[in-house]
Amino acid sequence: MAIRNIREYGDEVLTKTCKEVKEMTPRVKELIEDMLETMYEANGVGLAAPQVGILKRIVVIDVTGEDPYVLINPRIVESSGEQTGSEACLSVPGKSGTVTRPNYVKAVALDANMKPYELEGTELLARAICHELDHLDGRLYVDKVEGELQIVTDNEA
Ligand code: NI
Repeated sequence: MAIRNIREYGDEVLTKTCKEVKEMTPRVKELIEDMLETMYEANGVGLAAPQVGILKRIVVIDVTGEDPYVLINPRIVESSGEQTGSEACLSVPGKSGTVTRPNYVKAVALDANMKPYELEGTELLARAICHELDHLDGRLYVDKVEGELQIVTDNEA
């Protein structure tokens, strides 16, 4: 495992549409392990493959610090409600902003063994799912911010 370099706002790779993963390979496995390690090292709650420069539809999410989800080729199939709150991104260090997201989402994805599963989340998990899936289509939260980006001194994600 290795910590990978996190690409930052302004890097073109963050604006690209990612490609579906067709099969699990040793390379993809290593990428997922590295993404988890990189996310934890940076104290993030989620990380998408383009953030480490790889244009594949893979995200990792862990909003509790002990229960990581790996989502390969994820899609949101249901969403409802609304939440407005602070959001940040490892690719936009030192900033946060207010974003409105659904309060509930259901996603379908493949796990690290390429087995389909459903992931339902509310509140922070729903927000993380929406934020990370946006990365796979080249979208960053900064384009959805209501008002100005804030400067933060603590490292919140
Ligand atoms: Ni992000």
